Amino acid sequence: MSHQVSVWRAAQLLGVARGVLQQQVRDGTLVLNDGWVSTDVLLRLYPDARLEESGMLERVVKIRDEAFGKRVRERLLPSQEVLAQRLFAQSQELADVRRHLQRYHALVIRLQKEARQQLAQQPGAANWLALEQQITQGLAQALATDSVNMLEVMDDMLKVMTAQVTVRPSGHEFAVEGRANLLQAGLHSGLKLNYGCGNGSCGMCKVRVISGEVAKTQHFDYTLSETEKSQGYVLMCCHTAASSELTLELLEASGPQDIPEQHISTRVRALTVLAPDTRLLHLQTPRTHRLRFLAGQSVQLGWTMPGQDDVHVIYPIASCPCDDHNLLFFVSRDEADGFARCLFDGDIQPGTIVTVLGPTGEFVLAGGHRPLVFAACDGGFGPVKSLIEQALSLDDAPSLSLFWLATRSDGHFFSNQCRAWSEALDQFEYELVTQADASLGAWQIAQAMRADLFGIDCDFYLAGPADFIRTLHEDLRSSGVAAAQIFTLVL
Ligand code: FES
Repeated sequence: MSHQVSVWRAAQLLGVARGVLQQQVRDGTLVLNDGWVSTDVLLRLYPDARLEESGMLERVVKIRDEAFGKRVRERLLPSQEVLAQRLFAQSQELADVRRHLQRYHALVIRLQKEARQQLAQQPGAANWLALEQQITQGLAQALATDSVNMLEVMDDMLKVMTAQVTVRPSGHEFAVEGRANLLQAGLHSGLKLNYGCGNGSCGMCKVRVISGEVAKTQHFDYTLSETEKSQGYVLMCCHTAASSELTLELLEASGPQDIPEQHISTRVRALTVLAPDTRLLHLQTPRTHRLRFLAGQSVQLGWTMPGQDDVHVIYPIASCPCDDHNLLFFVSRDEADGFARCLFDGDIQPGTIVTVLGPTGEFVLAGGHRPLVFAACDGGFGPVKSLIEQALSLDDAPSLSLFWLATRSDGHFFSNQCRAWSEALDQFEYELVTQADASLGAWQIAQAMRADLFGIDCDFYLAGPADFIRTLHEDLRSSGVAAAQIFTLVL
């Protein structure tokens, strides 16, 4: 009987983006059976599937090799307790299968014996002869050693190392790897989870376990009522998946309107020179008071200079919501921007307290399964980077394309990141454009988009100055792109 896996698991096994498989389901190349796909079908579709590229085989080899020792085990394996629980469940399953197999085998042998006895009493009886031959041939086939389907082996292995969580009612899925708790794993997968403190005090990450087992990862102060406990409620920030499969019932944010305004006192962790006129500002929140936000959103940064008025400026966040403790911002030299002026003058230093108020903004991923196209001008790369990181975590889009216009010669201050994405991911492409005039640059990008993406139904995310947005927006509209598929952030 062929082995069935979910699309999510199939993507992990083959090392392809889930969006690519979903696209194949939509165009009929990949046929699902009740939402599942058989490993035989996968191997027919991907006959050259090289498991090494999926990382799975590599992990197995690494685990076997003691030289990798502690680092690999800590990164990939869950805690000993969780590992023991998953292995125990898998051993139970195996024991069940073995018991059933032994009983079937005994049954077949009894039938074969019966057929032979009948043949001895009625030599040449056609029915018994046919039955005896059928059983003997069937047994020979069943006991023959076929080559192992590696996808099945890897799926079993993956079940022990990585738990699969399904979310109801959205149907989203995410993996829990290593020692991550459910909240961390869900955020890393790009889900818009509801949470607050992240340390077991507020109760906002409460979810109901529908099926599967969880294990506590840390102490928590929040008290669940007896009714909640009996209904299976747990805190995501203090539990992980103990079983290989887990189904949770929880509500996810549907958009910016579901994210509460927060006021947090952060500290400057680092200031990095990216280019003569660009700095990377790294703010760190307290561990117990992190910023919940959606990729692409902005916050108001505030700083008090002794003896002077407070400075307040809105900046787009350039990091992923999955790391809510470390917030990144690209700050460009700008005399009209009080915060940037203080930063470039050296008044804001590592250790300085900076307040964060927000998040604000509607420039967030809309969801859906279309290819995503991002166009950024100068600092517009910040929110676009955040969106790209979330899109990569979600792994839903068939492809991602980035066009980045710099109006200064040193404007592609994070091009290494683009190169890294492109080298690591088949479905990511990027193009860097340098042009002092933002409108002209936008026009050049529009030409490049037409050449690369003509006829493809995409969602477009544009961030940059008004001239850049206007030119690109008009061009996309005149090319027939629906207004609902263009999302903009004017900086
Ligand atoms: S986020 Fe506050 S208890 Fe989990």
